[in-house]
Amino acid sequence: MCGIVAYVGQQEALPIIIKGLKRLEYRGYDSAGIALLNSDGLSVYKKKGKVSELENHLNGFSNLESKIGIGHTRWATHGEPNDVNAHPHYSSSEKFAMIHNGIIENYDVLKKDLMNKGYQFQSETDSEVFIKFIEDIYVNNHISLEEAVRLALHKVVGAYAIVIMNIEEPDTLIAARKGSPLVIGVGEKEYFLASDATPIIEYTNQVVYLDDYEIAVIRDNKLQIKTIENVETNPYINQLEMELEAIEKGGYEHFMLKEINEQPRSIADCMRGRLDAKNGRLVLGGLRDYMNKFQNADRIIITACGTSWHAGLVAEYLFEEFARIPVEVEYASEFRYRNPVISEKDFVIAISQSGETADTLAAIELAKSKGATIFGVCNVVGSSIPRATHAGSYTHAGPEIGVASTKAFTAQISVLTMMALKLGYQRGTLSESRYMQLLGELETIPSKVERALKLNDKVKEIAAAYKDSRNFLYLGRGYNFPVALEGALKLKEISYIHAEGYPAAEMKHGPIALIDEEMPVVFIATKDSSYEKVVSNIQEVKARKGKIIAVVTEGDTTVKHMADHVIEIPETEEAFVPLVAVVPLQQLSYHIAVMRGCNVDQPRNLAKSVTVE
Ligand code: F6R
Repeated sequence: MCGIVAYVGQQEALPIIIKGLKRLEYRGYDSAGIALLNSDGLSVYKKKGKVSELENHLNGFSNLESKIGIGHTRWATHGEPNDVNAHPHYSSSEKFAMIHNGIIENYDVLKKDLMNKGYQFQSETDSEVFIKFIEDIYVNNHISLEEAVRLALHKVVGAYAIVIMNIEEPDTLIAARKGSPLVIGVGEKEYFLASDATPIIEYTNQVVYLDDYEIAVIRDNKLQIKTIENVETNPYINQLEMELEAIEKGGYEHFMLKEINEQPRSIADCMRGRLDAKNGRLVLGGLRDYMNKFQNADRIIITACGTSWHAGLVAEYLFEEFARIPVEVEYASEFRYRNPVISEKDFVIAISQSGETADTLAAIELAKSKGATIFGVCNVVGSSIPRATHAGSYTHAGPEIGVASTKAFTAQISVLTMMALKLGYQRGTLSESRYMQLLGELETIPSKVERALKLNDKVKEIAAAYKDSRNFLYLGRGYNFPVALEGALKLKEISYIHAEGYPAAEMKHGPIALIDEEMPVVFIATKDSSYEKVVSNIQEVKARKGKIIAVVTEGDTTVKHMADHVIEIPETEEAFVPLVAVVPLQQLSYHIAVMRGCNVDQPRNLAKSVTVE
């Protein structure tokens, strides 16, 4: 949450930072700001609202030339979104300006101390406290800013990625991180700093990922990295493989629509080089060294948040069915505080698109401290979770920019499906012939998703009929229960319509009371082992005059006669249905949100990367 961008070099900083902030807006978009340094001094400009509001605000100023600058797009934690709480924040003397992503947990104590010393505060933010705390150390100890930052970092509790400018050092940026991401792009006599690589990619593909407890000083065209213990480290330069076109809309109206439509390719990319059905080969490089532990685990624990947690629920069905190992799926936020029973015999899978989710990271650290093996399933290469885990597999879905997760979900399920099949085969719980059959079917999924996408016009008609509904229910059983949860989450987060997902049979235990002629109920009723039961549940809703929208298997005739609308998806193995069935549900929420005039890519109150707990 919050995106930060900084630049120092030979070019004008302002356009680079504004463009970078727009790329990072998915991380937070309630206010934005920038600091520049030129003959007028160190100037901070900030505005409530999106980066475009900041741009309009900047039109009223002259002398914005600067070869150095820092910028921020905010997702409010401390203090409401307004101009004052926006970043950058000045120090008291206005000699320093800082951008911050993260939360300083002991800011209250620090603030009281500083107030006792006479410091005044304009904003309600922890970040203003942070820069003033650094300044206090700087002033009282007569030391360099770099040293003051280092000492301050020993005293602050919480998470941060910060970049600081200093009026007295016009060619210097000081940055540090703990718990919040920070990438440094290394160009020709120029450096770019950002929360992720998207603002950097068009200038350089050479990046350094700053580690926790590291401080980077860019001064006089040189990058120096030290730990907070003052030990110099050798920056490791990574080559970015991301393409610029992957982070642009490519003719689509919204990133979410582009990402929904990319799924045939993203699922294929995820399987490429790993799955060779004809020769019965399934290779997940990350698993190789840990296969023994995986195979002999007493238990698999899956931990994640939100949509990634839903992918984890699908995986529970997959692992238990194919590999016969007990699975528990845990909300990372609960798991981390519950004092769970974990041992070295547990194999923990952490799922995350961003690789930065604070609760998932904390759950990983906890399980690691108890001796469990941790395997990451992440999308963002080089993010914190892949670096905190023992091993892992990337989902290779490409950058996901729409805040509502779509292609990352199907890519996560694709990786988890391959893991479950591999595990089942190795453990002998899946016969050779069944294994071969499943591999063959898995390979057809991208083309089945492609066919499912063609349902768009039909789904759009359904969206038009129900866009003004106040509530929705989503029901499914077995593998389709997590799909129901995911369908409901997609709808509520982008259209602000209240939606609940339930296992279809649970309806009788409460939610059935909600059903009347005003209530649309989305059933995922594909031909599978619980089909007959779901058909009975559909009858129960119909008897109470609920409106039925059913996702069914192509050629289904039974449900067609009961439902108000049917969406026919291609037939596949029961275990692979979530990969196909979720597609029309993503489209349904997309169209409803567009028809309601909602900001699909940046829904209110949300941020793509939840780096605070
Ligand atoms: C929903 C959504 C969120 C994320 C959740 C976890 O569309 O995007 O629920 O799934 O915040 O994020 P990651 O997967 O980045 O750990």
